[in-house]
Amino acid sequence: MAELSTRNLTKRFGGLVAVSNVSFSIHSGEILGIIGPNGAGKTTFINLISGIFLPSEGQILFDGRDITNLPPHERARLGIARTYQLIHPMEDLNLIENIMVGFIFAGGHSLREARRKAEALCAEMGLRDLERPVSRLTMLEVKKMEIAKAIAVEPKVLFLDEIMAGLNSDETKEMIAIVKQLAREQNLAVGVVEHVMGVIRELTDRVIVLESGAIIAEGPYAEVSKNRRVIEAYLGGAAV
Ligand SMILES: Nc1ncnc2c1ncn2[C@@H]1O[C@H](COP(=O)(O)OP(=O)(O)O)[C@@H](O)[C@H]1O
Ligand SMILES: [Mg+2]
Repeated sequence: MAELSTRNLTKRFGGLVAVSNVSFSIHSGEILGIIGPNGAGKTTFINLISGIFLPSEGQILFDGRDITNLPPHERARLGIARTYQLIHPMEDLNLIENIMVGFIFAGGHSLREARRKAEALCAEMGLRDLERPVSRLTMLEVKKMEIAKAIAVEPKVLFLDEIMAGLNSDETKEMIAIVKQLAREQNLAVGVVEHVMGVIRELTDRVIVLESGAIIAEGPYAEVSKNRRVIEAYLGGAAV
């Protein structure tokens, strides 16, 4: 059972407070939604957890250990993985090689074992023609590959930053099913940033709502979506 938590996490960029005093926790087997308007600090929060930025104040704990100042690769080795809102596949590698990299460099698997594991993961995710260059993949396939790359580092905690953006509703449904299945199978803690509220409703057990970097509400989606402050801040008064 893994648990990741933050205590009073704050990140300032000059005068701007991008993440403000955020305390939260997530544990194995749980899918947590992280929602909030553009600029609310969602990506910055993930960047703090993965070690891209160091916080201005506060702490990050993983399984009771203070990881606040660890470099990104050490956090990855402990089992913290994420996808990027702006994706950057390795264009010189084909589809399966992109996924094998994680199994080899993070998992320490042999080339042959990495290929076997990557093939099994691709089969599970419905990815075919695995020797194709990345430039020949559809948007849906690229998104699946990004998730597969993150899964290949064999994480305990996985953050997905707007992974559904640009997909149609059938593709989104397929991705929801894939994320749920992977999370269940591998007993992952998953943090999901998404703008489409239907995705959050279908996918998450619990939600935190950020506004101007601070948590303004927390709870199951059904509750949070009725919270007046959330409706005003985020949903612009629209029905959910
Ligand atoms: N590297 C950075 N330097 C300066 N400001 C940043 C940086 N990254 C994010 N910000 C600012 O922090 C705020 C939160 O951004 P972000 O975390 O990307 O929000 P979200 O992902 O919720 O849309 C925004 O005002 C953004 O402009
Ligand atoms: Mg973002």
